[in-house]
Amino acid sequence: MLTHESLIEQDNAYLLHPLHHPSAHENALIFESGRGVWMRTVDGKEVIDGLAGLWNVLIGHGRAELADAAREQMATLAYCSSYVGSSNIPAIRLAERLAGFAYPDLNTTFFTSGGAESNESAFKTVRHYWKRKGKPDKIKVIGRSNGYHGITLAAMSATGLSAYWPMFEPRVPNFLHIPAPYPYRFAGEVKAGETIGLAAARLLEEAIQREGPDTVGAFIAEPVQGAGGVIVPPDDYFPRIREICDAYDVLLIADEVITGFGRTGEWFALNRWGVQPDIMSFAKGVTSGYLPLGGIQISDEIREVIVNAPANERWMHAYTYSGHPTCCAVALANIDILANEGMVGNAGAMGKRLLDGLHALAEEFECIGNVRGLGLMCAVEFVADRATKAPANLGEKVRKACIERGLFTRAIGDTLAFAPPLMISTDEIDQVLQILGESIAAVSA
Ligand SMILES: Cc1ncc(COP(=O)(O)O)c(C=O)c1O
Repeated sequence: MLTHESLIEQDNAYLLHPLHHPSAHENALIFESGRGVWMRTVDGKEVIDGLAGLWNVLIGHGRAELADAAREQMATLAYCSSYVGSSNIPAIRLAERLAGFAYPDLNTTFFTSGGAESNESAFKTVRHYWKRKGKPDKIKVIGRSNGYHGITLAAMSATGLSAYWPMFEPRVPNFLHIPAPYPYRFAGEVKAGETIGLAAARLLEEAIQREGPDTVGAFIAEPVQGAGGVIVPPDDYFPRIREICDAYDVLLIADEVITGFGRTGEWFALNRWGVQPDIMSFAKGVTSGYLPLGGIQISDEIREVIVNAPANERWMHAYTYSGHPTCCAVALANIDILANEGMVGNAGAMGKRLLDGLHALAEEFECIGNVRGLGLMCAVEFVADRATKAPANLGEKVRKACIERGLFTRAIGDTLAFAPPLMISTDEIDQVLQILGESIAAVSA
């Protein structure tokens, strides 16, 4: 019989996990099944999936429609190459569905298998675009501290979380970082009369000027930073960023790998601020994680540059699994569910309920220094002292206490992130809040 103990023994013997270290795997849970926001472990424990897998299981666990879509497509044509000269029906239908869906000017899609591959595709497309435009030196990509863009070598180099770097350096050259628009701990200077949002955007302009506009190809940003601590930018940040990118001929890459497909209460997050990117990376939520799929969408102008290139300057970029028929069929079924069941609106409403509840907990517990969120992407940040904002080292302890009480989520240092499936109910939001309150009380007692 498969027991938790026997599985853990085999896991320890044979598996290397993402971010592997044995100390972080000591009390690993082994999940066996899921339904809605709930997941069940092999030893029968029911927990709320407070991070929707890794921010991606938007429609919740256990939707048979996606299994049906996969089974049907696998039985018909599971795989075929999408290399130029060959195509398939689900990839064509999904690309058509996505045309203009996120932003009016993004009508062309290249499919990948995940977020890092999407960002690699974005960086290479930026290089191709500027070479074709006669500006081959525009190769630098500016990212931000706390930014997470995946951990293949170039994506890791764009990622602004230094913990990911040291054992894999040297990083790919020509990736640099500016401070994040992190209102609670903004690392830049705010000048008289300036808001934090405008100050954070000014740092982009200064970086472009310092590096030389002829050397900077793109700026990459998550609309709301996820893995770096759920950092919601001030409302004036992205409109100013767009102006700066336009002024210096710098392409804006929106990394919507987490925020895409409804997580923030908008289908795509930059719409909240009336901003359009030139390239958008997506992954995760496009299939709710049921199968691996990602991609980039490019502006009509970038598309023109690619399709009008002579054969010897072609966009020589490819993945075996680009336009995977089964993954695309599952994505179509997933987007239907998100749309037909009003899940994006629910993310907005439930996100507000969650955020209000977190604010109420902050009234009760002095150790909560900051509460933030947008839609169903929320966080609390613990501090030892509200005045000094000194670290409390509570994130991991509260996370463990939450797991004991039936809530699974992720700690990022002192920040505890909450991003459940978008179909979560009011009762389930209240359970999340109750478990969190009890866990903080238990840890601080
Ligand atoms: C914003 C963002 N970009 C990129 C990635 C990388 O995606 P993947 O792990 O599918 O390569 C992630 C993963 O969490 C992400 O959150």
